[in-house]
Amino acid sequence: MARVAIVTGSSRGIGRAIALRIAHDGYDVCINDISANRENCEKTAKEIQDLGRKACVAIADVSVLKEVEEMIQTAVKELGPLNTMIANAGIAQVKPLLELTEEDFHRMFSINVYGVQNCFQASAKQLIAQGNCTAKNPGKMISAASIVAFKPFALLSHYSSSKWAVRGLTQAYAMEMAPHHITCNAYAPGIVGTAMWDLIDERLGAQTGAKVGDTIKKYTNELIAQKRTSVPEDVAKLVSFLAGPDSDHVTGQTQVVDGGIIFT
Ligand SMILES: NC(=O)c1ccc[n+]([C@@H]2O[C@H](COP(=O)([O-])OP(=O)(O)OC[C@H]3O[C@@H](n4cnc5c(N)ncnc54)[C@H](O)[C@@H]3O)[C@@H](O)[C@H]2O)c1
Repeated sequence: MARVAIVTGSSRGIGRAIALRIAHDGYDVCINDISANRENCEKTAKEIQDLGRKACVAIADVSVLKEVEEMIQTAVKELGPLNTMIANAGIAQVKPLLELTEEDFHRMFSINVYGVQNCFQASAKQLIAQGNCTAKNPGKMISAASIVAFKPFALLSHYSSSKWAVRGLTQAYAMEMAPHHITCNAYAPGIVGTAMWDLIDERLGAQTGAKVGDTIKKYTNELIAQKRTSVPEDVAKLVSFLAGPDSDHVTGQTQVVDGGIIFT
């Protein structure tokens, strides 16, 4: 029987690549994003259906628990019992620490940290209530961390701290969910060419005077051992492992996939 996964923030970027990859692996997938990205959600769902798998769309803001609970109910109703939650949605912001407002800090944590907590707590409750997780067929909860969960980038400080929190929360979930046969892991990408890095490149450039496109090139050449910017599919390959049976004995880990920036 097909396994069922929800991928948050999967209308584009890394989430979209993960959704397509795990559909290719045999998952039926619920695509989620905020309402502004509904059209791209529908497109991703259609691409999955074209692969011969089931897909549905559930619009929800991951920072709101009630919307996350409704998203899970939509996925279960449309696709069947849940097996895997991939809490991918996240935002970034480039700003010096001394210029951050309370609102900036709050927004960062409400999406990147409360978003993971909402998705993990609500999906764990769903998995436990369904009773379909066993030692031989564990449930999977996977979160989006980052290399900045190991060493912050200057000017991305509240983003970096939010990703440290995701790494810690994922470790804690791994401990408390093990008796329920649910594994909990995170992926930690480096510099991936998505809309998020377009924004980071532009805003870091505005701080340093670099032209648009030059900062990502400079970071790629100076920081990445393999000397190429990551693509979403690089991350999706790792998440395919974390969502699949080959990682059944792996839990509590934050696995880096960055072409060689951070060595853990
Ligand atoms: N791009 C990178 O280099 C990089 C590196 C490390 C970690 N990450 C993490 O990977 C994840 C995906 O990043 P990406 O590069 O694909 O970014 P992206 O901005 O292209 O995609 C993120 C998606 O999440 C959605 N989203 C934002 N807030 C949401 C909310 N409250 N509820 C539901 N959806 C929401 C956005 O609308 C967007 O479609 C993020 O958590 C990001 O922090 C990205």
